[in-house]
Amino acid sequence: MKTIATIKEMNDWAKSHLLLGDSIGLVPTMGYLHEGHLSLVNKARHENDLVVTSIFVNPTQFGRNEDLSVYPRDPLGDSAKLEAAGVDVLFMPEADKLYGAGYETFVELERLPLPLCGKSRPGHFRGVATIVLKLFNIVQPQRAYFGNKDYQQLQVIKKMVRDLNVNTGIIGCPIVRETDGLAMSSRNSYLSTTERKQAICLYGALMVARRLFASGESDSKVYIQAMRDKVMAEPEAVVDYISLVDRETLENITIVSGDALAVLAVKIGKTRLIDNMLLAESASKNQ
Ligand code: PAF
Repeated sequence: MKTIATIKEMNDWAKSHLLLGDSIGLVPTMGYLHEGHLSLVNKARHENDLVVTSIFVNPTQFGRNEDLSVYPRDPLGDSAKLEAAGVDVLFMPEADKLYGAGYETFVELERLPLPLCGKSRPGHFRGVATIVLKLFNIVQPQRAYFGNKDYQQLQVIKKMVRDLNVNTGIIGCPIVRETDGLAMSSRNSYLSTTERKQAICLYGALMVARRLFASGESDSKVYIQAMRDKVMAEPEAVVDYISLVDRETLENITIVSGDALAVLAVKIGKTRLIDNMLLAESASKNQ
């Protein structure tokens, strides 16, 4: 595996391989890799001639009071995992090279970033869309891979690519869970032992929603109340949002049908966790 730190070297490498007719799959990450990331790498490996994984903790997607300075990092461990997973290039650019002095251009969607995570993280999706488009321009991937856990992020990226005629296929991949159901996330490392036990309430709430769906319930208020009750049973849990939304538009729905996505964000102590589930699909297929 080659490790590249400069934009020019990354772009030259990509262009030389595109000339040879190779397809490039990109897995953009912020590092501190877990099985969820590696499942994206694995899929990219199967669908492309070459795989590039980027590790970049993108400052523009963190709010002023968020965890940028303490975001977990493990470059050596990450590099070993990617090497073992058969990645061709690890791209680790420096922040001051991607956002040099006088930087002023951002990608902003008008509607999709407003609900859900966008409400408590204003500016977050502007930072995500911007860095993802920059990475696409540098790495020139045919396909790029993102986890379904950050569902709103995935929809924002799909929409950006459609609206701006970007030539990269966006592949959403199933959520990878711990054995007790907690969705894998680099931020799980913030949880104390007690918080880790309580964090299972997000998955528990999604299971409550799925059971209601299986029983034929169609009133979204019933779902939201039952999910809230499940989460609030944990002493450290504070609900940011619990919603049933349309899987495409992310607009709230009142009558629950097969297209409904249950989504939630919950703070366990200081750690904000998110999760989601399509109610109509089987657990193994969707997640
Ligand atoms: O999902 C992430 O890790 C980040 O938001 C991404 C897509 C790598 C952009 O910084």
